[in-house]
Amino acid sequence: MLVLGIETSCDETAAAVLADGRRILSNVVASQDAVHAPYGGVVPELASRRHLEGHIYAAFLTDDPPVHPFLALVVSGGHTALYHARAPLAYALVGQTRDDAAGEAFDKVAKLLGLGFPGGPVIERTATTGDPKAITFPLAQMTDGAADFSFSGIKTSVSFYVKRHAPLGEGQVADIAASFQAAVVKMLVRKTVRAALRTGVKRVVLTGGVAANGPLRAGLAAEATLHGIRLHVPPPRLCTDNAAMITAAGTVRLRAGERAPLSMNARPDMELA
Ligand code: KG4
Repeated sequence: MLVLGIETSCDETAAAVLADGRRILSNVVASQDAVHAPYGGVVPELASRRHLEGHIYAAFLTDDPPVHPFLALVVSGGHTALYHARAPLAYALVGQTRDDAAGEAFDKVAKLLGLGFPGGPVIERTATTGDPKAITFPLAQMTDGAADFSFSGIKTSVSFYVKRHAPLGEGQVADIAASFQAAVVKMLVRKTVRAALRTGVKRVVLTGGVAANGPLRAGLAAEATLHGIRLHVPPPRLCTDNAAMITAAGTVRLRAGERAPLSMNARPDMELA
């Protein structure tokens, strides 16, 4: 089955053609205003929450697709959530951010440091010359023990630090970037591995724009190996927004018999789990 998928999120437009939901024949990402081409064929339209699902299906476009059940850590500019994917199309929410999304925190801290947008890649680059142990930014503790995430505390303490030490030299900016990144990675890795151990799930998928982050990929891989957990991470170009992942998720729903009429509307409050 050949499926054309179109993804239209706020910051780009993308289209892909997949064979059998797995083989990428075409996968292009373009800025919104550059694309006005008329498309024909099946368009698996997905509401905004199902975008999560798209990120998860990026992992099925690799040579080493995950087998259910698995945990999926979806970390992007808009989402930070941990799902238990028990079976195809069956999800339970394990934990999510109580404030900022992880990518949003990267973007806000990059702005505080005057590094530009998008924040993730520029912080990762700046951090390579910094010391991740230079500054201890506090990690939020959930008093109720939930597998939820929180990034606003780290962001606020970076903001205080920047104000207290301004004007910052290049070395200080690198140290802040490295220490901030280390704190975010620690929170994501710790919560994910704990949830995997608690639920007894032996496979984890890491996906979403922030999954392009090298130290996060390496940190989670190391902890996963330590606990006998298989980690599946799509290549960076499939982690950030793209239409191939949306087409992969759409193909599974098409195969399951789902169809959307043209009268379908967007539902921003739609939940995946
Ligand atoms: O999934 P995505 O492309 O789409 C949206 O959610 O819009 O994710 C974009 C987010 C941005 O916040 C960006 O700063 C972050 O992913 N990101 C990264 C990296 N590359 C992109 N964060 C950390 N490290 C990276 N290398």
